[in-house]
Amino acid sequence: MGDGPMNAQTFDPFEPYDYRHGSVVAGLRWKNPVGTASGTFKLDACGEYYDVSQLGAISTKGVSPVPWEGNPTPRTAESPSGMVNAVGLQNPGVDHYLLDELPKLKALDALVVTNVAGHSDEDYAQVVAKLAQSEADMLEINVSCPNVTHGGMSVGTDPIALERLVRRLRGMTDKPMIVKLTPNVTDIAETARAAADGGADALSLINTLVGMRLDTRTGRPIIANVTGGVSGPAILPIALACVWKVRRALPDMPIIGIGGISSGRDALEFLYAGANAVEVGAAALVDPQAPVRVAHELEELLDRRPRLADALEKGQAWQQ
Ligand SMILES: Cc1cc2nc3c(=O)[nH]c(=O)nc-3n(C[C@H](O)[C@H](O)[C@H](O)COP(=O)(O)O)c2cc1C
Repeated sequence: MGDGPMNAQTFDPFEPYDYRHGSVVAGLRWKNPVGTASGTFKLDACGEYYDVSQLGAISTKGVSPVPWEGNPTPRTAESPSGMVNAVGLQNPGVDHYLLDELPKLKALDALVVTNVAGHSDEDYAQVVAKLAQSEADMLEINVSCPNVTHGGMSVGTDPIALERLVRRLRGMTDKPMIVKLTPNVTDIAETARAAADGGADALSLINTLVGMRLDTRTGRPIIANVTGGVSGPAILPIALACVWKVRRALPDMPIIGIGGISSGRDALEFLYAGANAVEVGAAALVDPQAPVRVAHELEELLDRRPRLADALEKGQAWQQ
């Protein structure tokens, strides 16, 4: 289908806009199928570039039980069509989040997906216990963090441990619970099924892939943590294949597609692969308005695809 050039430059990121195409994700309606990806949105920074209520959802930086300082610097390195980061989940902790960022986001009428981080199963439980009575609309459990309960491996790489953790958290809250999957596994369909068996209402995928860069003058790793997570356009085909695979394994599970999205067409590709919605990450570090631009571009593309738009409104995914 010829979609022609996008009309991207005409939108006003602060002007209220009546989106025509929403998406129902785990029973909650997003006004459009585009959200921010965790760790690439901060209200103080992004609020200067667009009205946050213009997006389908805002996924926050990972929230931990106590403040975390993150990893030593340098924490980032450039890579071909992407970047490597080892920020280490720096954040001021759940109590600060509940007093500061969450009320501010809700006052701005954002649909808030609170991303939950933990270095142990107990960490996750403590954060979810505090969020259970909060104004957060959805929880997104980041199971890619190194986890001491699992010998330093992320819980998202072990289906048995993952199902156990998700079941424990499921019992603590009625809020829609998204489990964010890591691609650093042999078969992502297996961990997807484990999260579903534990009671996940939706899955988001993918988190970053393990990668590194070295400084050829010194022969040493550029990032102090040695390895980090690769994100950006370079990972888009990998993320699409993961969404496709998980959609085939779990035909009815709501899926949020993430990985290298920087245009409405990229987002559309994820919807055709079987995602119900998408999140935009690293693109916003290059172009802060990227998530809103992607939403506007996708809006036009969905105008010409009524069958897909209709499925998303009904909480369904594209059937190949
Ligand atoms: C600087 C940075 C920080 C991130 N922090 C988090 C985080 O706190 N929690 C999380 O679940 N994912 C985090 N991610 C992963 C992104 O949300 C996303 O899954 C990944 O970057 C792939 O999408 P992208 O290619 O659009 O960036 C982070 C990514 C970046 C680049």
